Amino acid sequence: MKIRVLGSAAGGGFPQWNCNCRNCKGYREGQINAHARTQSSICISSDGERWLLFNASPDIRAQMASFKPLQPARKLRDTGIEAVMLIDAQIDHTSGLLMLREGCPLNVYCTDPVYEDLSSGFPLFPMLESWNGGLQRHPVSLDSDKGFEIPAINNLRIHAIALSSKAPPYSPHRNNPVKGDNIGVFIEDLNTGGSLFYAPGLGAIESHLLPWMERADCLLVDGTLWRDDEMICQEVGTQTGLSMGHLPQSGAGGMLETLFPLPARRKILIHINNTNPILDEDSPERAELNRQGIEVANDGLEIDL
Ligand code: MLT
Ligand code: MN
Ligand code: ZN
Repeated sequence: MKIRVLGSAAGGGFPQWNCNCRNCKGYREGQINAHARTQSSICISSDGERWLLFNASPDIRAQMASFKPLQPARKLRDTGIEAVMLIDAQIDHTSGLLMLREGCPLNVYCTDPVYEDLSSGFPLFPMLESWNGGLQRHPVSLDSDKGFEIPAINNLRIHAIALSSKAPPYSPHRNNPVKGDNIGVFIEDLNTGGSLFYAPGLGAIESHLLPWMERADCLLVDGTLWRDDEMICQEVGTQTGLSMGHLPQSGAGGMLETLFPLPARRKILIHINNTNPILDEDSPERAELNRQGIEVANDGLEIDL
């Protein structure tokens, strides 16, 4: 299985257009050792030709321009993207669908609650019906044991796992979570046996997740915030990470403690918020990750499993 990280930042990207926090200002002024990042998305393939896009970020045009296998190659109008799977209905994971309208009809896999949010609060599905058949919706089953395959994506078996994070701020049920608002996926390459657990929005480590995380060769998980109160401390927001559905890395029960005992060959943080000190490659927080063998995804990272 080939994995390409298209965008490794959380909503807003890094640097964020209107932000003067230590990282954003430091990056713009060349005062910190850091790399810019676009918004959260990956794509995966077994054969290197037919790709499943996970999440469609507002930065998708630049992301496709940076990755040749997604570009038209076989006919006049073409893309390497065979289908899109959404792990939630957040703006940073879905607004790129608007940019893909010229390629409709487009196969989109999502859960019922995500489909409902994208048919009401942010009505991408009805809007895009006016573009050549629009988004062809395929339900994602939450019967994680069984798993499923996507036609045209060879040899990848996908298990969708409901998890606790948050529906988007615009969602009518932002504060009344329902099963399927957010998922993680366990994906196995049936040829190589390699496996990935991907969960860029992960608010709590519930017991049903652990067997999947223990089984995966590679973990690509929520790296939004280092501290739960990071946005409050830096005076850029009023919400904690947990209230937004993101488990912080540090502290008791945090992501680092969770990852420590797991046997995965690679443990990688993704969906990094622009306030997170791990973006500064010379920071003590980044040194701590290095000591623990935990990587920080960057745009363009490729993983072979
Ligand atoms: C989130 O994951 O919480 C989002 O990135 C927030 C947003 O895009 O506004
Ligand atoms: Mn997000
Ligand atoms: Zn910032």
